[in-house]
Amino acid sequence: MANEWATFGSDLHLELRGPRLRAGLMDALREAVRSGRLEAGTRLPSSRALAADLGMARNTVADAYAELVAEGWLTARQGSGTRVARRAEPRRAEPRRAEPRPAGARPSRTSAPVPVPALTLPRPAAPAHNLKPGTPDLASFPRAEWLKAYRRALTAAPNEAFGYGDPRGRIELRTVLAEYLARARGVHVRPERIVVCAGFMHGLMLIGQVLLNRGVRDVAVESYGLGLHAGLLTGAGLGTPVLPFDERGTRVEELAGPALAGAHPGAVLMTAAHQFPLGGALPPDRRAAVVDWARASGGFVLEDDYDGEFRYDRQPVGALQGLDPERVVYLGTASKSLAPGLRLAWMVLPESLAAEVAAVKGAVDWTSSAPDQLAFAEFLASGAYDRHVRAMRLRYRRRRDQLVAAVAAHSPGTRVSGIAAGLHAVLTLPPGTEQDVLRSAAWHGLAVQGVNQFRRPTVPATLDGLVVGYATPPDSAWQGALRALCQVLP
Ligand SMILES: Cc1ncc(COP(=O)(O)O)c(C=O)c1O
Repeated sequence: MANEWATFGSDLHLELRGPRLRAGLMDALREAVRSGRLEAGTRLPSSRALAADLGMARNTVADAYAELVAEGWLTARQGSGTRVARRAEPRRAEPRRAEPRPAGARPSRTSAPVPVPALTLPRPAAPAHNLKPGTPDLASFPRAEWLKAYRRALTAAPNEAFGYGDPRGRIELRTVLAEYLARARGVHVRPERIVVCAGFMHGLMLIGQVLLNRGVRDVAVESYGLGLHAGLLTGAGLGTPVLPFDERGTRVEELAGPALAGAHPGAVLMTAAHQFPLGGALPPDRRAAVVDWARASGGFVLEDDYDGEFRYDRQPVGALQGLDPERVVYLGTASKSLAPGLRLAWMVLPESLAAEVAAVKGAVDWTSSAPDQLAFAEFLASGAYDRHVRAMRLRYRRRRDQLVAAVAAHSPGTRVSGIAAGLHAVLTLPPGTEQDVLRSAAWHGLAVQGVNQFRRPTVPATLDGLVVGYATPPDSAWQGALRALCQVLP
């Protein structure tokens, strides 16, 4: 059996318990259908593709499908594949029409001007090699497929699509996003709970404003993360107490503990599926604990699922949001899976926040570009998004493997970690050497960042390392960048 992800098919997130056998697979599929996460009519991946993804024998998956067809959970028809059967319960799908602005959704407090944080934009620089994290391979943007989707979307768009729309975004996009997020990331979602926004940063700004309006004063953050994101919160007037970190990841139990020095955060910003930049997944007991904290305190978890599509080790880490959709705000983005220049992202909101976030969005910038949203909806619905993600996953995984092999050959003492997922890895350096290695990298024309550039200022420095964005260069520049990296390692 192939030991790689299949290049074909579409993604399906399943919570498999116990050994990867037919009974476990059937239970997971039944649960996904019963909970409504997989809606009637949803097309499942072929048995070959799912078997490759789950590391199972194809026959096991084919047998499970056949039994679930016999039980009435699934249907199988020549030419249309295996789909979730239509069952007696009413469907939750919304009509495909523009929705009115949520009634009375704009609280008067949102009329106050939204503070604009001071952002320092990076100066354009031109190093010979670029391994800075944060950007996918821009040369791989699927221009032809995107153009086709754009053309189809624009041709089919009703005239009203060119007017002022629903601040939550186009219903066409929210409908297909809901299907995709439930299927691929295990998110519990309905289209009316989605707000489309122009990037994760935009979403964080909106949710930060809503929390402020509700009287929240602090949003806790992880010990390591993007300064830009914490800066956006502090710029809006929120405090950002820092949660400590240990070898298992963020110590979420300190949300109610002494480490926050008396702060009582109303929310916590987390990269639970793949900590940025250190790379681990939050262990199950801490995933449960952070949700328990939110339930007990009335707070919210802001889940930054920035690269959840890219996992290489077959261990599905579903969205934290699946544990409690009423206490977790899920934020996803196309910035890693497609391109940051699209400025397309989405929030899945608890019911208690959905109308307020939509109202703040309406007050700030109304809506994201409707043609872009329609093109993205078409791109998703046609399967082009799954195809692109799966092709890029294979390509990045190959680069990751080359990175690990090259580091082992040139610098056997350097540990590479955070490699199970995402588009970057952490190379641990001997204590006290990070600055020297960064200087040497600059000298060799290599742009790369150190872990301490992502450390919150109040966190003591205990770690030296490089954060290597192996997805960043185009294919033609990758080998050269890798060689330059090896030259600067101790
Ligand atoms: C940790 C993290 N979250 C989110 C994002 C996505 O940000 P945006 O959607 O604003 O481009 C990035 C991109 O670099 C990131 O590194």
